[in-house]
Amino acid sequence: MGDIKHDETNFYSNAEDYWREIPATVDGMLGGYGSISSIDINGSKTFLKKFLGEGEGKTGTSCALDCGAGIGRITKRLLLPLFTTVDLVDVTQEFLDKAKSYLGEEAKRVGHYFCSGLQDFVPEAGRYDVIWIQWVIGHLTDSHLVEFLRRCQKAIKPNGLIIIKDNVSYEGVVPDEVDSSVCRDLAIVRSLVATAGLRIIHEEQQVDFPKEIYQVHTLALR
Ligand SMILES: C[S@@+](CC[C@H](N)C(=O)[O-])C[C@H]1O[C@@H](n2cnc3c(N)ncnc32)[C@H](O)[C@@H]1O
Repeated sequence: MGDIKHDETNFYSNAEDYWREIPATVDGMLGGYGSISSIDINGSKTFLKKFLGEGEGKTGTSCALDCGAGIGRITKRLLLPLFTTVDLVDVTQEFLDKAKSYLGEEAKRVGHYFCSGLQDFVPEAGRYDVIWIQWVIGHLTDSHLVEFLRRCQKAIKPNGLIIIKDNVSYEGVVPDEVDSSVCRDLAIVRSLVATAGLRIIHEEQQVDFPKEIYQVHTLALR
């Protein structure tokens, strides 16, 4: 019988070892699919803009958090153009170091670079309009994902949003031994979100991605 604590420690440390060896580039962030970055960002922009603005119930644009930010691919092209301040959190220090130059002049509007696993990270209560969590939930165990989402709920402002954008499997949980992650099906993701006490406000599938990769879904939660 496997020792669960031991397995969990390895699940995280193997992922950290994997990412430490990956080049701090857009291609590195996207597992060789750097070419889809623009389609991804444009899809995200259209999705997010539905919620942002000034009126009743609209989400503000003061501060966003990029979770599993890597070198800041999303911060640079999606979040910094829409929010006054952006914080980044990632477990790989080398990526955050790279972000400082990759983000260019606009890096001056970054509030904090937090080097932490999301399983340990406690975002500041009430600080964020939007918490963006893309291509990283598969690196958290079910219970850590639920607990992290609960902390995110406390960290958003009134009318704030938590966005999950990630791969979804056709059915069940598909492990990836190479980067030490899992890919969950949509029903499982939805049920973890519900367990965290969050409601799905809107959901879309990203279109125009290559046929051979997982489907990617975006969920807006609060
Ligand atoms: C596939 S990349 C995605 C980067 C970025 N979200 C993007 O879309 O460009 C996954 C990122 O998650 C980070 N990561 C892996 N496990 C993590 C964890 N437990 N907590 C926080 N970040 C993690 C890696 O260092 C890497 O930067």
